[in-house]
Amino acid sequence: MERIHSDILIIGGGPAGYLAAERATQGGLTATLFEKRALGGVCLNEGCIPTKTYLNSAKIYEYAQKSSAYGVTAENVSLNHKVVKERKDKVVKTLVSGVEHKMKAHKVNIVRAAAVIQGKEGEAFIIEADGVGYSGRYLVIAAGSEAMVPPIPGLKEGLETGYAVTSREILDLQEIPMKLTVIGAGVVGLEMAAYFATAGSNVTVIEMLSKIAGYTDAEISELLMKDMQNKGIEFKLGCKVTEFAPGFLMCEKDGTPERIETDLALISIGRRAATKKLGLDALGIYTENGAVVTDNNMRTNIPGVYAIGDINGKSMLAHTAYREAEVAVNHILQKKDYMRYTAIPAVIYTSPEVACVGETEETAKNKGTEYVIKKLSMRYSGRFIAENDKSDGLCKLLFEKGTQRLIGAHLIGPYASEMIYGAAMMIESCWPIDDLKEIVFPHPTVSEIIRETFF
Ligand code: NAI
Repeated sequence: MERIHSDILIIGGGPAGYLAAERATQGGLTATLFEKRALGGVCLNEGCIPTKTYLNSAKIYEYAQKSSAYGVTAENVSLNHKVVKERKDKVVKTLVSGVEHKMKAHKVNIVRAAAVIQGKEGEAFIIEADGVGYSGRYLVIAAGSEAMVPPIPGLKEGLETGYAVTSREILDLQEIPMKLTVIGAGVVGLEMAAYFATAGSNVTVIEMLSKIAGYTDAEISELLMKDMQNKGIEFKLGCKVTEFAPGFLMCEKDGTPERIETDLALISIGRRAATKKLGLDALGIYTENGAVVTDNNMRTNIPGVYAIGDINGKSMLAHTAYREAEVAVNHILQKKDYMRYTAIPAVIYTSPEVACVGETEETAKNKGTEYVIKKLSMRYSGRFIAENDKSDGLCKLLFEKGTQRLIGAHLIGPYASEMIYGAAMMIESCWPIDDLKEIVFPHPTVSEIIRETFF
């Protein structure tokens, strides 16, 4: 069979895959990129970007509602979900076509079909897609992840008939449900709870653990929960869903069952690597807990095969995927590089935003790292006071006792998402606090709170 050859075959056109294709061609390699859905993956089509357009509309609406205290009169303020969704669709289209243009500009061969690994012949990896054969010297697996759907009675039927949805379908709702129940208080659950509550839904969030926002610093997640409760969102912590049915669901806390009436249930209890149907067995690629095993060069156990992005299950974030793509391609191009996971920021785009990087008190304790905490209310920032009358936020920094280096930064407040990279750089730089104190921050900015917290 005739095969189309390129230096590098990339499965998946999300952030990991398309950046790998771009970097590979910049490095002089020829690349074929396989994508069965739209380019841009979950991030552009049904994750990061669409949720940010929704949350931006929610933020504008919230500002408009309290604008009179700031001397701005806005009457009959309302949020029109239909318009918000139309705008979301436009934004997604713009960005997806941007990726398409970029791939064309880099002469990436795009194959719009599902790729299945067939094995290896001589030095070449073989892939089949839509009846056509492809060969390549290197193989990069960037096939992403999918929403976890646990075997709870009634859930499968709920997803089929529409009374339960995942993060994919909820973004395409035409109307705001009167009563929304969110299962899982992780990033997806909290961001969607925030939007739909602002847009008019009566929202209940059910979380199995005793706190929201997963690995987020406990103090910050408590502040976020209080803020969301003040906006009318109800939280049921330490609670598990046991059954779904049209119009209601059953949950259980400490052995006591409870019935919750709901128009819609969002299932957001995590994601898992999309390893099925890729043909990993044809090459004997190792997986562990359902994700492809990789080293810090993003190599799998098979020389020449790399796995980047959600598929390796290490840190399911688009920005991690970008960096992993560069590390994998650099290894192929024999450039010195390796992946570090110690300073990867995580953001929850609620209002206020939560942004964190590095160690929390809990992870530092678990590692036996001795640390010093410094923290300050956001109200020590002049710009924060200028822009916010009643609310507050927090900046919490962790320094390692011996080295005096910043090892963790946790923020809740406006612009936190835009400030956190500064803290990530400080962690990566390994500078002790006395050196960090010499950095000049622009005034007045909310980011100055980081500098204030040093002293
Ligand atoms: P997650 O892992 O962040 O949170 C899932 C939550 O569901 C956990 O708190 C867990 O305890 C809870 N849970 C699990 N089973 C449950 C059950 N049966 N009943 C009640 N609660 C249950 O997963 P999520 O929110 O679905 O996000 C998936 C991935 O997408 C994450 O890796 C996240 O980092 C990424 N993501 C990142 C965003 C960002 O950076 N802003 C936005 C959206 C997603």
